Parts: sequence; C-alpha cells; structure tokens
Amino acid sequence: MSQASNEELRAVVWRVTARGPGLALIDQTALPHALRRLDVHTVDQLVDAIVRLVVRGAPALGAAGAYGVALALVQGEREGWGRARVDAEVARVRAARPTAVNLMTCVDRAAARLDEGLGAVLAEADAVVEEDLAANHAMGRHGADWLLERLGRDRPLRVLTHCNTGALATAGWGTALGVIRELHRRDRLQAVYADETRPLLQGARLTAWELARAGIPHYVQADAAAAGVILRGEVDAAVVGADRIAANGDTANKVGTVGIALACAHAGIPFVVAAPTTTVDLATASGADIPIELRAADEVLEWAGVRTAPADSRGHNPAFDVTPGALVTALVTERGVREVAKGELPL
Ligand code: MRU
Repeated sequence: MSQASNEELRAVVWRVTARGPGLALIDQTALPHALRRLDVHTVDQLVDAIVRLVVRGAPALGAAGAYGVALALVQGEREGWGRARVDAEVARVRAARPTAVNLMTCVDRAAARLDEGLGAVLAEADAVVEEDLAANHAMGRHGADWLLERLGRDRPLRVLTHCNTGALATAGWGTALGVIRELHRRDRLQAVYADETRPLLQGARLTAWELARAGIPHYVQADAAAAGVILRGEVDAAVVGADRIAANGDTANKVGTVGIALACAHAGIPFVVAAPTTTVDLATASGADIPIELRAADEVLEWAGVRTAPADSRGHNPAFDVTPGALVTALVTERGVREVAKGELPL
C-alpha cells in the first residue's frame, strides 16, 4: 500500500471543516461500493456511527473513542456544558460498544488529559493513532517471521482470515491483515481465504476490498466453508484479530472465530491471533468475564432489508465469541510472539 493510499484508508481522521472541528470517519457501511467520509460533529452522531459500524474494529474504535473525548469538549464549549456534562457524554462514547476493550482504554487515556484542555486531548488521541500504526507494522513483521519459521519456506502460504482486521479496523494498516500484507510483501503468500463474516459481511465487503486494492490474491468464502477448508488441508494457518484478550489468554473476536480455532486444533495447523497490547485486558481474568455484544435481531432475520426468516421467528445475534487460550497457537503483538497454547500468558 502506498503512502497516499494509506492516508486515504485512515478510518478515523480529525479535521476542521466549515462546520468546525470534528471527526471524518470512512463510512464502512458504504463499502465496497463507495469510499466516502461521514463528518461527525456531535457525541450523538459519534455514538450512532459506532453502533451502526460506520467505524468498527477494535483499534479503530480506540482511535474514534480518543477523538470522541475531544469532540465532547468542543461540543461542550459550543453548547455551554459544565464539566459534569462533558464527563457524562464521554461515558456515552465509552459505552457505545461493549466488547472491544480498546474503546474503553483509549477514551480513558484521552479523558485523563481533559483538565489540560483541547490541545492535550488531541495530542493524546494523535498518539493513540501513531502508536497503533507502529504496532501494526511491528506485528506484521513478527507474525510473518513466526509463520515462515514455523511452516517452512518451501512454498508460499495459504492463510485463512475472518472479519476485517485491516487498515479500516485500525489506525491504517492492519493486525492480522498486517501479517498477511507482510507475507505478500515478502512474496511468501499464495492466497488468502477470507470468510464473508455473517451477518454484516466485514470479510466480503471490507477485507476483500482491502485485499483487492493491495493486489493480494484471495477468495471470499462462506463462513460455513471455513472448517471444511481447514480439515481438507487447503490452508496452512488461520490468522485473525481480537477485540479483547483476557489475562489467561482467552480471546474474544468476531462471531465464528472459535469454530475456526477448533478446526485448526483438529487439523494441527496454527491458529494465530494478531492484536496490539492495547487489546490485552489484564483486568479481565478469563473469557467468561468478557462482555459479548448482542446486536439487533434484524441483522440475522433479514437480508439486505428484506425479511428472510418467518415472521414469528426470534433472532439470536451475538457479535463475538470467545476462543479459549488453549486453542491459540500464537499471539502476535508489537512486542513479539507468545505461544499461548503452550502456557505463555499474553504479556
Ligand atoms: O463488529 P466489528 O466489525 O467491530 O468486529 C471487528 C472484529 O471482530 C475484528 O476482528 C477485531 O476488532 C480486530 S480488528 C483489528
């Protein structure tokens, strides 16, 4: 990805327009058909954008949350809020989605600078973005090194991935997709098998779009194809991201991930999680303590706005699942690789 296109793919940007300072988010609900930004000038608009997945992916949510603190401050000055109201609005941003811990920790990080004023809050949010970008590139290198060391170098690798963990989900490069980009850069990648990622199709709409832009060979497959593809030996490893990693190594990620991990364990191939240390939550003891977002039932009862299930059916729509640490062959962070299944804890 060139520097110019990298800038174009920054999911979260703070900019000043005729309407004043605010966030310009790539509207991920419009992809792959349109690449456009949504300008956000109020906390209500930001919370709505987070809930609708205009902005999504754990590290990108962290960036949006950190700038969201600045947004609350700017709106508060415009509308004459006191400090208690600013704090309450910041808390709404923090609670907009429950599973990705990056949202909470990055909001807290920026909110800790509120007493110093807007410049300090923005500097903190900028630091969140720059640190994530650096972490992404480091993870790419560590993950590619580990996979090539582990799987040998006799032929390029076939890698399965789930959901979207690319530039759109981060500060601008990717976690699992960063590892995949690095394998491609080293000419050690044969193809990516990208799960479509029901029900909102982050894989088919976003990952495939990023891979196509980067010229990376890939297939989009139904989520239900993943286990069979793994058991038939059609991929060499699965590499996925994470929304929260508990202290014991249990990992929450997009619903459907745990099935991939089980299939990898059965097939004896690596199940690799790539996530920055900002996704590790040592305050959460195990996966059982990770809050799993339950999203609107319509997302599974309808297809493109048309009801597909019988009128009387109720929907069940957990957006994430938890993979036990024992199934995580390797956790790749910016600090290096931990072999979690062998008992190495996340940090
Ligand atoms: O519901 P989403 O699209 O926010 O879910 C995103 C994921 O599950 C990603 O795999 C995870 O956030 C890692 S992003 C680098």
